[in-house]
Amino acid sequence: MSLYFGGDYNPEQWPEDVWHEDVALMRRAGVNLVSVGVFAWSRLEPEEGRYDFGWLDRVLDLLDEGGVKVALATPTASPPPWFSLAYPDALPVRADGTRLLHGSRDTYCGSAPAYREACRRIAGELGRRYAGHPALALWHVHNEYGTACHCDHAAAAFRGWLRKEYGDLDALNDAWVTDFWSQRYSDWEQVFPPRATQYLANPGQLLDFRRFWSDELLAAYTEQRDVLRAATPDVPVTTNFVFGGWVPVDHARWAREVDLVAIDDYPSDAGPAAEEQVAFAGDLARHWAGGDKWLLMESAPNLIYTPGRMHAKEPGRMLRHSLAHVARGSRGAMFFQWRAPRGGAERFHSALVPHAGPDSRTFREAVELGSALRALSEVEDGAIEAPAAIAWDAASWWALQGPGLPWEGIDYLAEARAAHRALWTAGITTDFVSLSRPLAPYRLLVLPAHYLMSDAAADAVAAYVDAGGHLVATYLSGIADERGRVRLGGYPGALRDVLGVRVEEFRPAAHGWDEAVTLNGAAWERPGVTRHRYGAGTAWYVSTPLDDEAYRELMAEAAGITPAPPRLELVRRRGDGMSWLFALNHTDRTALGPANGVDLLSGASVSGVLELPAGGCAVIREVDIVPGKPLP
Ligand code: GAL
Repeated sequence: MSLYFGGDYNPEQWPEDVWHEDVALMRRAGVNLVSVGVFAWSRLEPEEGRYDFGWLDRVLDLLDEGGVKVALATPTASPPPWFSLAYPDALPVRADGTRLLHGSRDTYCGSAPAYREACRRIAGELGRRYAGHPALALWHVHNEYGTACHCDHAAAAFRGWLRKEYGDLDALNDAWVTDFWSQRYSDWEQVFPPRATQYLANPGQLLDFRRFWSDELLAAYTEQRDVLRAATPDVPVTTNFVFGGWVPVDHARWAREVDLVAIDDYPSDAGPAAEEQVAFAGDLARHWAGGDKWLLMESAPNLIYTPGRMHAKEPGRMLRHSLAHVARGSRGAMFFQWRAPRGGAERFHSALVPHAGPDSRTFREAVELGSALRALSEVEDGAIEAPAAIAWDAASWWALQGPGLPWEGIDYLAEARAAHRALWTAGITTDFVSLSRPLAPYRLLVLPAHYLMSDAAADAVAAYVDAGGHLVATYLSGIADERGRVRLGGYPGALRDVLGVRVEEFRPAAHGWDEAVTLNGAAWERPGVTRHRYGAGTAWYVSTPLDDEAYRELMAEAAGITPAPPRLELVRRRGDGMSWLFALNHTDRTALGPANGVDLLSGASVSGVLELPAGGCAVIREVDIVPGKPLP
């Protein structure tokens, strides 16, 4: 099976003669999969109930003749203008009561019955029409679920969700601590989505609203998935996960409902942090996929949006970033988008075929990437070796976005990224993990700002260390229970024993964060870091932010390894009697790394030392790997 290479393809934006050129160029670049129809609802159903599939038939036939497979989308992320006029109650409402209108995308309420029904209908039409089409390889439901709404439909659905979650109002009042500020509810009808209010909103309500939306949107997804499965039981179904603080989706939970985890990855930084963010996203995707393969469904070929302006991706980065994803288990590299549009809000977004056309650096790099991916098909089943894991918890992220925290600067994602960066720069391949999953396989477990912690999760962490595990936990971990209620008796509530410390007071300071730590079995190891023997294991507590170098050193020490040279990324995948070493040089100098084997990209043999030029990549099919022997 080849790795996938391609991207979002929007033929509806172009006359038919361009489609022929598209397919010819796709063949030239080695494109073998495209996502079609993602935003094509107004073309597929120009009026309610009147469908026009003729153009899509021709596109799919043409792609099929060209040997390009299709991830066929349901277009439900952008209902057409007729839909808004026919069903104004299905338009989304913001917390401040503003009802939004079409003119952009994602203008729907995921709880509105008319919207849900229209989605099932168009999905059913597509399913029936394209069942058996030879180009159809994958269903791509919707696009980036994550839009919340505060309207009356959402309110009714939220109440229904809360009733199921809590059973009775007393339990809800208890979970949300509604006796604070006289918020006690005596009737379900008094409960609303967190709409605009006078001052700080209730944090329990905000947290549950996120959880509710995750489940509500998941129900919207599974409805479409089931309609498609009924039409084409053998075609896998997915939706592309989007990652961001505004997204009320628990991807770990959703991953159980997709046949292939697919992510979109747009690093928000154009500098060296981009590489770290790529590695972070890939490791997270592998976690959601349960350690299995997944797919990079979208990434930017060139210009990326960064705050304020767009930035060009430097030459070579398209290949390096794509390989970093494949190294972490992606089944290929897909892009947004195939051809740059002439108009529309994203007219300057990069594309594999830019406005300049195929005579361009981007297209040449695309051709190079296509050929690299073809050379790598054998790695597809290799499993990734990771000695360390970071606990990832979407709900802690949401809770730490709530109001009234002791430090506004606390940013869960930044904390998780800092932990991952410290491991990444130390050369330690890292998994993400949920505390409800087995922890024993890891030599090192890291809890960055794991704010919410159930008793069961705290027990799992303690058992892990007791049995010999190494734990690094940072400030604001274990502070609250799973509902967000603060644990009493001293911070970090759920982790006091295992960490051997007790914190009576937070000391937020100008530079960020500090605490009054009392040792309770632990000892100071360096400023801001304590160390505690617990059972057969060791637990470190980080009570103040560390700089990158100190954090990297701590991770290497806790994992018991000598750190690798920074920014020479080495990731190993191991298959049946085979292994492959991905080596990516993110520096502007030649880098040397230990390797033996054949570079699948260049065909060159490597014995002992791999020499990689600045920005260079190699994928070594290794020889002489003795099972069980420590890896270089
Ligand atoms: C993605 C989205 C695409 C496109 C892209 C731009 O999040 O799925 O449709 O908008 O961002 O970077």
